Amino acid sequence: MSPKVIVVYESKYGNTKLVAETIAAGMREVEGIETVVSEVKEVNLKKIPDYDAILLGSPTHIGEPTRGIKKFIDKLGKLPLEGKFFAAFGTYLLDKSFEQATKKLEKRISEKVPGSKLAAPGLSIRVKGMKGPISEGELPKCKEFGKKIATQIKA
Ligand SMILES: Cc1cc2nc3c(=O)[nH]c(=O)nc-3n(C[C@H](O)[C@H](O)[C@H](O)COP(=O)(O)O)c2cc1C
Repeated sequence: MSPKVIVVYESKYGNTKLVAETIAAGMREVEGIETVVSEVKEVNLKKIPDYDAILLGSPTHIGEPTRGIKKFIDKLGKLPLEGKFFAAFGTYLLDKSFEQATKKLEKRISEKVPGSKLAAPGLSIRVKGMKGPISEGELPKCKEFGKKIATQIKA
């Protein structure tokens, strides 16, 4: 059976959504991977254990991932997800040295989901303004990120 991946995101202005969709497009370039993309509010928690990999993405809001994504991770901690692959991604506006959502997402996943495996280091994507758009040269990184994770999961 082909490995299944779910890309879960929250997005206020659509930029993190576009990142999620572009990551999924990268994954679909690798044969034999099934990928679905879902807004965090639409996710059926009970179905999460059906996936081999769970990708989580959020915009940076005051140096943090959104509350919706953080709560979602906390709920994942109660599911049997031992040995599943995880990866985090996020968007940010300010200087890269500023605290971003991605690192905090990763930390929270490792703390709350026992036995989670990181498929790849998190991806942080810069936007040009509060509402976007995504900065030049950033979208190809999303595609590569998707491809890399898909290849890793298949191996
Ligand atoms: C309430 C709020 C707080 C924000 N705080 C930060 C921040 O601390 N650091 C940062 O780099 N960007 C910050 N931003 C900019 C967001 O990162 C940007 O709006 C987001 O990446 C756009 O993604 P989206 O279209 O998926 O919502 C903030 C935006 C909002 C709305």
